[in-house]
Amino acid sequence: MKFFIKTFGCIQNTADSERIKAFYWNKGYKEVDNWREADLVVINTCIIRESAENRVYGLINEIDKWNRNPPALRAPSLDKEGLKKISIVVTGCLAGLANKDKTGKKLAQLKRDFPEVSEFLPIEKISYKIDPIRDKKDLALIPISFGCSNFCSYCIVPFARGPEISRPMEEILKEIDVVIKNGFKEVLLIGQNVNSYLNPKPLFNSPLDERENTNYVVHMGKKRLHSSFHILLEEVAKKDLQKISFVSSNPWDFSDELIATIAKYPNIDRLLHLPFQAGDDEVLKKMNRGYTQKEYLDLVKKIRSQISDVRFSTDIIIGFPGEDEKAFQNTVKLCKKAKFEIAYLNKYSPRKGTVSAKLYKDEIPQSEKKRRWNVLNDLINKK
Ligand code: 5AD
Ligand code: SF4
Repeated sequence: MKFFIKTFGCIQNTADSERIKAFYWNKGYKEVDNWREADLVVINTCIIRESAENRVYGLINEIDKWNRNPPALRAPSLDKEGLKKISIVVTGCLAGLANKDKTGKKLAQLKRDFPEVSEFLPIEKISYKIDPIRDKKDLALIPISFGCSNFCSYCIVPFARGPEISRPMEEILKEIDVVIKNGFKEVLLIGQNVNSYLNPKPLFNSPLDERENTNYVVHMGKKRLHSSFHILLEEVAKKDLQKISFVSSNPWDFSDELIATIAKYPNIDRLLHLPFQAGDDEVLKKMNRGYTQKEYLDLVKKIRSQISDVRFSTDIIIGFPGEDEKAFQNTVKLCKKAKFEIAYLNKYSPRKGTVSAKLYKDEIPQSEKKRRWNVLNDLINKK
C-alpha cells in the first residue's frame, strides 16, 4: 500500500506531518511523491483563512474527479495504478474543528459535504512519542506545546486545536538528545504560543522546577500563568547545538527571564518572530491582543537594549474591521519604528465561530486590503 501526504499551513502542521508519516510507515505503507500513484492521500489541513481552507477543498475535489474518471482518461503511464480508487484521510485543523464540536453537528455536516473522505482523523490520535520521519537533515522540528488558549478575536486556532497543552520537559529534552545523536545541529521549538510553555511535569527535586510556580502574572494586559519557557530554552541552549529557534512568541509572554536567557546563549537565534498584528490601539483591543502599540514598541526596545544583534520578524493582519486609513497608518508607523526584517502579511478573513466574525462586518474591500498589503510589503519585505 502506498500513501501520499499533502501538508497545508504552518510549521506546526509540517511537524505533525513528520509524525503522521511515521504512523503510516509503521502500518506498512510506503510513501510516494505523486498522489495519483497512492492508495491513500492524507491531507493535513489549514483553515486559518478562507483561502487556505479553499485549497484543501480544491485538492479533495481533484482527487474525487480522478477517482471518477474512467482509467482510459488518466495518464497512460499511470493507468495500472490508476485503476484503484484513492482513499482520502483528512487531518489537521479542519478535522480538529469538526471533532472538537461536542454537538457532533460540524462533523456530520463535513461528512455530508465530503462523502468521498473516508476519515476525519484527529491529530491527537497520533502520539507525540512516535519517532517522526524528519524531512530535513540538519534542522529538527520539535513541538513543545499544542493548541492555544488566547482567543484573539479573529482566530480559529483555539477552536481547531483546543486549549494550550505543554509537553513534559523531560520528554522534549530526550527527543532533542536523540536528534543531536543523529547529527542534527539546529532545532526549532514550536508552539502556537511557544513562550507560554509551562512544564506540566516538573522533575522531582531537580533545579529545572526551581522557578516553577503557578502564580499569575499580569503582563501587557493579559493575566498569565508564570511560564517555564526560559528554563526549557536554557536547558536546550546548553546542549551541543549550533542554533536554537522558536516560533511563535507572543508579546505578553516575553518575560525578562526569557530576554536574559537569549542574551546569555549565543546559539539562540537572534531573529525573533514576534507577531504584533496591528499598530492601532482600538484595533488591537477589538482583536483581544491585550497590549497597546506603545507597549509592543517598548518591549522591542527593551529586547534590543539587552541583545544588541537581535532582529525581528512579525505577523500583521490587514483590513481588520474598523481599520480605517488612520488606523492603518498607525501600523505603518509601528513598522517604521520597529524595523522588521520580514513581515508575514495576512489579509483579514472572517472565520465562522470566532468573536470578530460574529461582532463585526468584514467591511474593508478586497482591493483596499491588497493596496495596504502592497504598502507594507514594499516597506518591509522589498527593502
Ligand atoms: N484572518 C487573517 N489572518 C489571520 N491570522 C490568524 N487568523 C486570521 C484571520 N482570521 C494570521 C495572524 C497569525 C497568523 C498565523 O495568521 O497574523 O499570526
Ligand atoms: Fe490565534 Fe492568537 Fe492563539 Fe496566535 S495567539 S494561535 S493568533 S488565538
